[in-house]
Amino acid sequence: MQVKKKRIIIDCDPGIDDALAILLAINSPEIEVVGITVVGGNVDAMKCAMNAIKVLEVGDRLDIPVYLGESKPLVRDLVTAEETHGKSGLGSVLVERNKNHDLIREGAIDFLLENSENTHLLTIGPMINLAKAIEKDKVKFNRFLSITSMGGTFRSNGNCSQVAEFNYWVDPHAVQIVYDNYDKLITMVGLDVTRKCVLTPTHRQLLKFIDTKLSRFIYDITEFYVDFHWDQERTMGCVINDPLAMAYIIDDTMATGFSSNLEMVLDGNAIGQSMIDIQGFYKRENNVVVLTKVDEIKFMNMFFSRLFSKHKKDIDIIIGKS
Ligand code: RIB
Ligand code: CA
Repeated sequence: MQVKKKRIIIDCDPGIDDALAILLAINSPEIEVVGITVVGGNVDAMKCAMNAIKVLEVGDRLDIPVYLGESKPLVRDLVTAEETHGKSGLGSVLVERNKNHDLIREGAIDFLLENSENTHLLTIGPMINLAKAIEKDKVKFNRFLSITSMGGTFRSNGNCSQVAEFNYWVDPHAVQIVYDNYDKLITMVGLDVTRKCVLTPTHRQLLKFIDTKLSRFIYDITEFYVDFHWDQERTMGCVINDPLAMAYIIDDTMATGFSSNLEMVLDGNAIGQSMIDIQGFYKRENNVVVLTKVDEIKFMNMFFSRLFSKHKKDIDIIIGKS
């Protein structure tokens, strides 16, 4: 029986974990990637666009269009994350600057608006493109069937301050515009659940044993990310945030949460905090589903099984099945 594919647009800032989310999407039969829009975040917007092209080249999907989006936040200056993702944005993997440069298209905002009908939106970078799209045509923007957002944090400590997660901290004003103007509940895949999705040394050794172009690429781009996680958080391995948001679109049984109201802190020490009014103090309308529990084995098994289906038996043994 032919499964109806979910059409998605990926708005991202590749970014090591963005790269993994794109690879999961293009290796999942349930998903049709209509296009990729990039935004300044982990590194500058043009590097993000080059990195998206690089990932599609590794994944043999250069047919998927890549659109260059906004390079700076609405109010704040852009603060990038080279210490986490490397100067290139893909760890120690350098991307040939001019190779396939001509594949990068202009007009991310119009692409989002003209392709929102019958399409789901995966946002795994700062929400600047989304806010600009709403400002241009809110009615067309609200045609998106759903928005799944890697960003924010509820009860887990932040990664940009004690309380703020990077995507929402880079441009909190844009996040507020999106949560105020999208007319359905946004699924927030925040640090509360993504921190449980760690690519461990065992997982990375499995990549070595699988030994394909794709597994070697993932091993190489995550090397830098692992060193950062050890230095920064004494994590053994690296947290792969973005692919969990992609996996949730494919199978929403792998995580659970609750509906509430999200409001962003827009200035001061707590800027970028995603305040979730779980007790209903402000009696505002719900605008978010906050994920708080995840079956991380189910997620990691899906990630490896989709990318390396020939090694399913080894994957089930090494990673486990939920
Ligand atoms: O906080 C993690 C998020 O910020 C991820 O999307 C990562 O790629 C960075 O964009
Ligand atoms: Ca990202």
